[in-house]
Amino acid sequence: MTPGPSATPSPNGQPLAASQICVALDVPTLLDASELVAQLVPMGVTWFKVGSSLFCREGPEVVRRLVGQGARVFLDLKLHDIPHQVALTVAAVRDLGAELLTLHASGGSEMIGAAAREAGSMRLLAVTVLTSLEAALEQVVSLGKQAVDAGAGGLVCSPQEVAALRQALGDQSWLVVPGIRPEGDDAQDQTRVGSPRSALRDGATLLVVGRPITRAPNPIVGLQRLLSAS
Ligand code: C5P
Repeated sequence: MTPGPSATPSPNGQPLAASQICVALDVPTLLDASELVAQLVPMGVTWFKVGSSLFCREGPEVVRRLVGQGARVFLDLKLHDIPHQVALTVAAVRDLGAELLTLHASGGSEMIGAAAREAGSMRLLAVTVLTSLEAALEQVVSLGKQAVDAGAGGLVCSPQEVAALRQALGDQSWLVVPGIRPEGDDAQDQTRVGSPRSALRDGATLLVVGRPITRAPNPIVGLQRLLSAS
């Protein structure tokens, strides 16, 4: 894997860079995804998230095609199964060329360890408690630490959890953070949002942004707005 962003955030006050954003490709078809990648890679965006809906519609080809266009792919499948089955799936995703893959921390240390043994240079990101569920911060931190100890290379977490997790985990683990909106923007259906600046200040490694870019009348303008508003 070529070097990505270091897990240590940019110092306070540094402008947000396009390379710190992972664009969530929550679009219906490979063609839509491919057009967004073609527009945004020349703007300096390198990371793109493929979720389960696009993956189930278009299949593994979506990862191969986007990687072929120069995208670094974060495959958000949130795996949760017995260790043997998860290990087989991780090996399959690794062979597709994805560089980030999610799995549930609640699958346990054995599941995460089995996944890590098959991950190669791909980084596994654990999801602690879904943001659609209630969770105490202590529970998120405890599950997150267990996942990292078992072999996860980082976590997906909400903007409100970044500071506590960065403190608990140190500098090496990636903290990948969705729920990002430019200051003062519409939160849409996100309940726990944060601005790019505050998430980076708290210790985020990579910011996942979907609709502010993908649903903007012009995605390049959406990206520029996010970068200048941060
Ligand atoms: O469009 P928006 O910026 O809200 O997209 C955020 C992306 O991050 C979506 O793909 C969503 O599934 C994902 N995500 C999230 N909140 C979580 C975990 C993942 O919004 N807690």
